Order: sequence, then C-alpha cells, then structure tokens
Amino acid sequence: MKALIWKENKEIELVEKPIPQIQDERDAIIKVTYASICTSDLHIINGAVPNAIPNTTLGHEFVGTVIKTGSKIKNIKIGTRVCVNCETFCGECFFCQKGYINNCIKGGWKLGCSIDGGHAEYVRIPFADTGLTPIPNEISDKNALFVGDILSSGYFGAELCEIKQKDTTAIIGCGPVGLCAMQCAKFLGSKKIIAIDTNPERLDIVKKYNLADYTLNPLTTDIEQSVKALTNHFGADNVIEAAGSTDTFQTAWKIARPNATVAIVAMYESPQTLPLPQMYGKNLTFKTGGVDAIHCQKLLHLIKEKKINTDFLITGETQFENIIEAYKLFQNKPDNFLKWAIKYKK
Ligand SMILES: NC(=O)c1ccc[n+]([C@@H]2O[C@H](COP(=O)([O-])OP(=O)(O)OC[C@H]3O[C@@H](n4cnc5c(N)ncnc54)[C@H](O)[C@@H]3O)[C@@H](O)[C@H]2O)c1
Ligand SMILES: [Zn+2]
Ligand SMILES: [Zn+2]
Repeated sequence: MKALIWKENKEIELVEKPIPQIQDERDAIIKVTYASICTSDLHIINGAVPNAIPNTTLGHEFVGTVIKTGSKIKNIKIGTRVCVNCETFCGECFFCQKGYINNCIKGGWKLGCSIDGGHAEYVRIPFADTGLTPIPNEISDKNALFVGDILSSGYFGAELCEIKQKDTTAIIGCGPVGLCAMQCAKFLGSKKIIAIDTNPERLDIVKKYNLADYTLNPLTTDIEQSVKALTNHFGADNVIEAAGSTDTFQTAWKIARPNATVAIVAMYESPQTLPLPQMYGKNLTFKTGGVDAIHCQKLLHLIKEKKINTDFLITGETQFENIIEAYKLFQNKPDNFLKWAIKYKK
C-alpha cells in the first residue's frame, strides 16, 4: 500500500509499505476513507515534535472502516465506520482512569507521530476498543473527519477553562482549532466570545459563520486595550491560545483578567517565557496540553443534533494520490484555505 512518510531532511515522500496486520489482541485494522492534514503534522515535519520518529507514516486526523479486529475487540465490528481518536489509550492505567488519556502509560499521541498513522490506505489502531468511535448513520465520514483531533482539541481548550455562564472567552487564533474552540466555548455556556487573528480572511470566516461576538485584529487594534474595553476593564474570564506564536503566548496572559484561566492548546516550535515578575499578583491559572480526546461520542452526537458544525472547515477536497501537493498547499496557508478532505479509493 502507499504511505506518506516524513524524513529528517524535512521532506515528505509517498512510499510502499506492507498492509499492517494485527499485532496485539486489542488492535484493529481500518481502511481509511477520509483524512485531513493538521498543523501538528507540519510541526512534526519541521522537527519540532520531540516524540516523532522519522519515516513514520504521518496522519492522526482520519476516519475509516474496520476491516480486521484482534481477539479482545468486542464492541467494534468489522464493517463499522469509525472516527479515530488521535490519542491511543489503554483505558485502564492511572491516567486513563482520570480521563488524562494523552498521558496513558501505554499510549498518548502516537498515531502518525511514533507509530504509522492515517496518511496511508490502511492503519493499525492499538487499543481499538477505546480509540475508535462508531459514526452514527446520520453522519457521513466527511462530517466526522475532525472529531478525533481538532474538534476534540477545541473542546479540550474550552473545557480546560471551566467556563461559567456569564463568561467572556477570548480565543487567539482563528485557524481550524480556534474555530472549533469558539463553537465549543459557546456550547459550554460562554456568553461572549472574542476572536483574535492577524488574518482578515479568517476573521471574515468567524463573522460569516457567526462564531464570535467580536473580532479583533492585532495588526489594526491594540488587543489588550480592546479586550479591556469589551470586559468592563477587567480582561477576559477565559483565554484559549490556539495560534502558537511568541506574540500570542504573551497576548494570552495580558488579555486575561486577574484570576482567569489561560488554556494553551497551540503547539509552539520554540520555548516560551512566562514573565513572572510582570504577571505577579494577577493570579492566573495556566493550563496546557496535548488533547485528552475523551468526548468523541458526545461530539458526534452534537454534530448529529446540528449543535456543532465542522463542514465549513473543509475548503478543499482531493484524492490520496495527490497528498504531497495537498501538504504543499496546506503549508503555504493560502487565504481562505482551512482544511483538506483527502479521499481514499474505495
Ligand atoms: N493541543 C493539541 O492536542 C492540539 C491538537 C491539534 C492542534 N494543535 C495545535 O493548535 C494550533 C492551531 O492549529 P490550527 O490548525 O488552527 O493552526 P493554524 O496555523 O491554521 O491557525 C493559527 C492561526 O493563528 C493566527 N495567528 C498567527 N500568529 C498570530 C498573531 N501573532 N496574532 C494573532 N493571530 C495569529 C494565524 O493567522 C492562524 O489563523 C497548532 O499549533 C496546532 O499544532 C494542538
Ligand atoms: Zn492534530
Ligand atoms: Zn492508559
């Protein structure tokens, strides 16, 4: 089968790999139907993800159909359409029991990072009984494409903030993750959402889909002053950082009101510094992390109920054969482009 790997020289290549087989009784093999490319895939290629292993098949955002199951898999049947959790997790260890699946002692973010992922025709999914969620009949594979990664990440960011009913939540970065976070923050009860991005096209998308109450562009507005003006001069009750630059890391704590929560969902390619003397007395709570994607079933339900919609994120569709060109375009981030739906042969 064809599989897309990344190499230490920051190149990607479509190579021939054997179709994966069951290696453990909790494995399943799925045939991929749709995949997407995540900004985190680009961080891997850039050498900025320490756990990533060169020559691994990329891809942790995909859906497919189960074609083989290990002997211990009881709840997932062959032929089931499934969305794939970007995290692999045993469901039994200390961390899994608490829902902290990103730190599962036997798993975490491995697919497309340290074990072969979904930018191939077939994938072996370890702990398939925890990591695969059947897609309801009412939802197409394409509708479910973002559930296991970026939609879960948006939800994760909003959940970390422990949003209260009257809260104003500021979301920095109106990329796919930020756009998902806006919908999730609203669903979790945030009264007002402030969307922040330097890219006017992305702010237009926020307005078009009514995802936030205010849009702010740091290139034309003093963000700290504007957020204060919108929040009784306190600052935002919650801040979700989904952009990933040094500027936005600093903006995140500056626009938070005292005693706010700042949730860092973005991945940085370099270390960031918290200026603790300047922040002293603001008494912020910082939360960071790789997504604990434990709500796939709930998110599928919300899509089915039309309470969350990620279809508009798909701005391009192509065939798996063209995945290298798809990466190049995604890396260049043309205006108005958000996500690929990469289709695999039946
Ligand atoms: N924590 C996790 O488990 C997890 C999961 C998925 C993705 N991610 C990470 O989330 C981040 C966002 O992903 P994405 O796909 O939405 O990325 P993206 O690059 O499409 O979006 C980032 C947005 O931030 C904006 N931005 C950049 N610099 C800015 C600045 N100085 N001020 C304001 N806006 C600025 C960009 O214009 C862009 O719209 C990435 O770092 C990705 O790796 C994390
Ligand atoms: Zn991702
Ligand atoms: Zn575990």
